[in-house]
Amino acid sequence: MYDIKYFLQEVEKLFAEENFLGTPRELYEPIEYTLRLGGKRIRPTLLLAANALFGGNADAARGAALGIETFHNFTLLHDDLMDRSPLRRGQPTVYQKWDENTAVLSGDTMFALAWRYMLRHDSPRLREALQCFNETAIEVCEGQQKDMNFERLPLDGVTLGDYMDMIRQKTAVLLAGALKIGALLAEAPEAEVARLYDYGIHLGLAFQLQDDLLDGYGDTAVFGKKTGQDIRDNKKTYLPLRALGLCDASQAAELRTLFSDKDNMDEEDKVRRALDLYEAIGLRSEVEKAIGDEFAKCLRALDGIAAPEERKTPLRELTEMLVGRKK
Ligand code: IPE
Ligand code: IPE
Ligand code: MG
Ligand code: MG
Ligand code: MG
Repeated sequence: MYDIKYFLQEVEKLFAEENFLGTPRELYEPIEYTLRLGGKRIRPTLLLAANALFGGNADAARGAALGIETFHNFTLLHDDLMDRSPLRRGQPTVYQKWDENTAVLSGDTMFALAWRYMLRHDSPRLREALQCFNETAIEVCEGQQKDMNFERLPLDGVTLGDYMDMIRQKTAVLLAGALKIGALLAEAPEAEVARLYDYGIHLGLAFQLQDDLLDGYGDTAVFGKKTGQDIRDNKKTYLPLRALGLCDASQAAELRTLFSDKDNMDEEDKVRRALDLYEAIGLRSEVEKAIGDEFAKCLRALDGIAAPEERKTPLRELTEMLVGRKK
């Protein structure tokens, strides 16, 4: 039981058993489309693995696992609209396949459905778990707003520290929150819950750094998302921010222009120029180094958790699966 495949299969079963359709169909079909497209299912897998780590009753954690993934998918419906992303999981995004209003309302409904799933099973620490879920949701929105604010700021207006703080909120707290909820439902000791949360934050930071890297260097056919979108959107991701520190003066001027929201450049030309510049300064290996450092911190945090080693195996395996992921 203590391997990651087991938990990934459990999550697949959970979703296979659920019906996401309802009326009006215009509301529910995009929900079913999104939740059936799969994705990596990292967050519910983390939740179930964290629950098992502390000997929890898996039945009491299943609803929360569905809930956390439904919440994640809600954020994607809105995120794709906000980022103007045409593709996700190799398929058209909801606002493209249907329309913007659909992405808004089906997304909103998924947030409420997430709560319904969260409340499905009772448990002595359910209230704490729900509090964690809600605070996490608020932080994700705060992080998402910062991400949007950064699009309008010049490259020099955002520091690497600002960026790390933004991705901690928009991405890392959800992975950490999933782990914490799983552990709370297993009635884990406070100190271990905190250590597990810390592991989740580093995992989430590494995960988002890798996502930024894949946006630049991934293969759309594997990654499932259209690459270069962060460049088109003037996103102040780790890539241009780190690049600035590696540039000479003329390269820095070019980079500032490329990531300004006042340019009138052809989008594909802009992507090509940014990637050429990254290539010239050897950016890729620098980013890979930063990702490696974050994964190392994450594994050290896992080492520090007081729980039987064999029960940590699934989390270790999941972490290793995510190192160097291509999608
Ligand atoms: C995408 O999350 C959003 C980010 C935080 C980068 P995932 O990469 O986990 O997306 P799916 O669910 O596997 O498609
Ligand atoms: C994802 O950030 C964070 C969310 C709150 C959804 P991104 O915008 O980088 O995610 P992708 O690349 O579209 O999946
Ligand atoms: Mg996006
Ligand atoms: Mg985004
Ligand atoms: Mg991204």
